[in-house]
Amino acid sequence: MPTATPEGAPSASWGPPLTRVETPERLRRQCERRRAAGLSLGLVPTMGALHAGHRSLIERSLAENDRTVVSIFVNPIQFGAGEDLDRYPRTLDADLALCAGLGVDLVYAPAVPDVYPPGFATRVRLVGPIAETLEGAHRPGHIEGVATIVAKLLVTVRPDRAYFGRKDAQQCAAVRRLAADLDTGTEIVVCPTVRDPDGLALSSRNGRLSPAERLQALAIPAALAAAGAAHAAGERDPERLRQIMRLRLARSPDLAVDYAEVVDAATFEPATAACVRCEFLIAGRIGDTRLIDSMSPGEDDRPIVAG
Ligand code: PAJ
Repeated sequence: MPTATPEGAPSASWGPPLTRVETPERLRRQCERRRAAGLSLGLVPTMGALHAGHRSLIERSLAENDRTVVSIFVNPIQFGAGEDLDRYPRTLDADLALCAGLGVDLVYAPAVPDVYPPGFATRVRLVGPIAETLEGAHRPGHIEGVATIVAKLLVTVRPDRAYFGRKDAQQCAAVRRLAADLDTGTEIVVCPTVRDPDGLALSSRNGRLSPAERLQALAIPAALAAAGAAHAAGERDPERLRQIMRLRLARSPDLAVDYAEVVDAATFEPATAACVRCEFLIAGRIGDTRLIDSMSPGEDDRPIVAG
């Protein structure tokens, strides 16, 4: 595998060279250099521990842009007190090797003080249901933390396109809103969810599930699929669709459900009676592992199975 080298130094014995930068200043300079050469830029923000879900975003960006920037940063301000910041998996060497192998040419892997130096005092806060319901209600400060890091990345990289996974549907809606509201000019591209063959959406946290816990977790994609099937069969009553999800989830007694909801996909207001453009969202905890998943019924978003 090719390895990352300090800024500017070519690295790989095969494949394109990968440049790794650790400070916002260097990131900005590298991106400016590429834009000045007339190259389009795609950005894939991640917290690392890269899996096939992340890889699908990176591959889409590589296909649609001249250059792809991947950020790898476990963003402390989007974790609440008592959440898994300290236990979040960190696999930087493997992540760099994956990026190099795919043909990413720029990885931004800063340390916390590079991003949040002493005195840092800015938060980007969305208002309204996108920020205040579901994840907003269950993880106070989480969406604000995501919005703050994503806004910083958009300002520094100034990408033509930025790539996000549909699995985190509320994050996608928040980032779409933020990019539009701040006139960033960045196209926000939402990519399909990559799943394991048993249906579980890939997540950096899945590795913490025991086999028995994993079986319980499968209630989440099963509940989404049940609601999706009902929707496909003509069911449009959001309350009935919610009920279908909750009944399926109740068959997994070890799954503590935070929410199983049907909302308008763009605004996160409660879904209209006709359930047009609605989104099904589930979050729950098994032991101390929190899982979230979602589905947009009626969209051509067939699940992709990890290869
Ligand atoms: P992270 O959980 O590392 O996810 C990075 C991106 O990969 C997100 O857009 C997420 O939705 C997407 N992703 C995760 N699992 C996926 C799957 N199974 N299929 C497709 N896409 C998937 O989400 C974050 O990091 C952070 O909140 C971040 C946006 C980087 C801000 O810190």
